[in-house]
Amino acid sequence: MTQSSISVEENQAVLEIYGRSKLSGEVVISGAKNSALAIMAGALLCPGDCHLDNVPSLADIEKMVQILTSLGLEIVRKGQSLEIKAQNITEVQAPYDLVSQMRASFFVIGPLLTRMGVAHIPLPGGCAIGARPVDLHVRGLQAMGAEVIIEHGVVQAYIKGNNKRLVGTKIYLDYPSVGATETLMMAATLAEGETIIENAACEPEVIDLANFCAAMGANIQGAGTKTITVSGVHSLHSVKYSIIPDRIEAGTFLVAGAITESELSLFPVIPEHLASVIAKLKAIGPKVVIEGVNRVRIIPAPLKATDIETLPFPGFPTDMQAQFMALLTLAEGNSIVTETVFENRMRHVAELQRMGANIRVKGSHAIIQGVPCLGGAPLIATDLRASAALVLAGLAAEGKTIIQSLHHLDRGYDNLDGKLQKVGARLRRIPSVGTENQLMSSEEDSALVR
Ligand code: EPZ
Repeated sequence: MTQSSISVEENQAVLEIYGRSKLSGEVVISGAKNSALAIMAGALLCPGDCHLDNVPSLADIEKMVQILTSLGLEIVRKGQSLEIKAQNITEVQAPYDLVSQMRASFFVIGPLLTRMGVAHIPLPGGCAIGARPVDLHVRGLQAMGAEVIIEHGVVQAYIKGNNKRLVGTKIYLDYPSVGATETLMMAATLAEGETIIENAACEPEVIDLANFCAAMGANIQGAGTKTITVSGVHSLHSVKYSIIPDRIEAGTFLVAGAITESELSLFPVIPEHLASVIAKLKAIGPKVVIEGVNRVRIIPAPLKATDIETLPFPGFPTDMQAQFMALLTLAEGNSIVTETVFENRMRHVAELQRMGANIRVKGSHAIIQGVPCLGGAPLIATDLRASAALVLAGLAAEGKTIIQSLHHLDRGYDNLDGKLQKVGARLRRIPSVGTENQLMSSEEDSALVR
């Protein structure tokens, strides 16, 4: 292995991966990021204590803690649990510098407005994968009687009249938006009368949020179906709740097994949350065995080209598109991956091409011609799931891969590299190395990763 050097941005850790190692053993799956974020926002509904278990340790969760704390909540993390005291909300304006970094922070608008009668939330703005508008959230709140003005980049919502309650109504979502469904469902829990959300998102995280709200005393029917009915109540009460396992983390590790031709088992999982992912893996070749009620095992097999189209749940999840694209770069034949949910979620393609992948992008379609092998390379991550795809490609590639901008990965995965190391992946996180880093000689390199 020749000496190589790579300049990394000041104070940025990098991931160094040596590919083609077999993995084996069992991976413990953490709590679902996208469930935990929505449920933490939902804690604003409760003028009492919320005890949350199975909360993953990752950057976006810490950011949500900061946002809720800035609104007056008292939050203490104890291992994988959060103790949230939401008796006193002292602020109704969320800080722009935090909201702009994480779209999920916008989800506080529904609970804050319905609890306090007013909420000023900065527009989250776009991100790497798309414009990420919030028009469906805003229009739904207006339909429930809120006045909403968008001024200087801040969504200012308030409830007119003296009784300070939103009014239940029928809302049709133009698109089954996960966030809009969650915002409006939370807003409706304390509204006057009945709210019906039609064309609602059916994602498991929506069901988890509904179960959390019901555990606080909310009256919600139909979560997980296209029509959710909420009968408003006057107030909610303290709750103890455990977050479901993360289906996207689980899917990512299933691909890790497939792409390294390794047998891996994952625990805990909820198999029905992985139905489309498991079906696609089986179509590509690997076997997937469900063991008991909450364990799944992947058994590798030769990879066959397969087409994928991302869709709202129960369709194939957009959050697994990048990871499957990495896998399909090594599948024999031509695959077509179509991204229908976000308008700019193909930024991992350029980095995969640098590893030797044969991919052509035409609009929302990527045409992938399988190659026998990928080659390690220095890469730059662009967004959360793209980062995961690059890690997976690095695990399969010949030689060394270095991935910069790990903050994307750390936003959404709870110790992904540590979990991979535990099942035999040859990788390490190199802490901030200054502006110029001459990687060690091959002897030192191989010694470090053995
Ligand atoms: C949630 O984002 C997830 N994030 C995303 O996961 C996930 O990719 C997405 O749902 C789709 O499943 C969290 O739950 C925190 P959407 P969300 O509203 O709610 C358009 C990850 O990697 N839209 O369902 O923001 C939107 O532009 C992240 O973990 C509007 O047009 O997604 C997009 O094209 C990435 N107007 C489509 O709907 C709106 O008001 C789906 O977005 C809202 C959304």
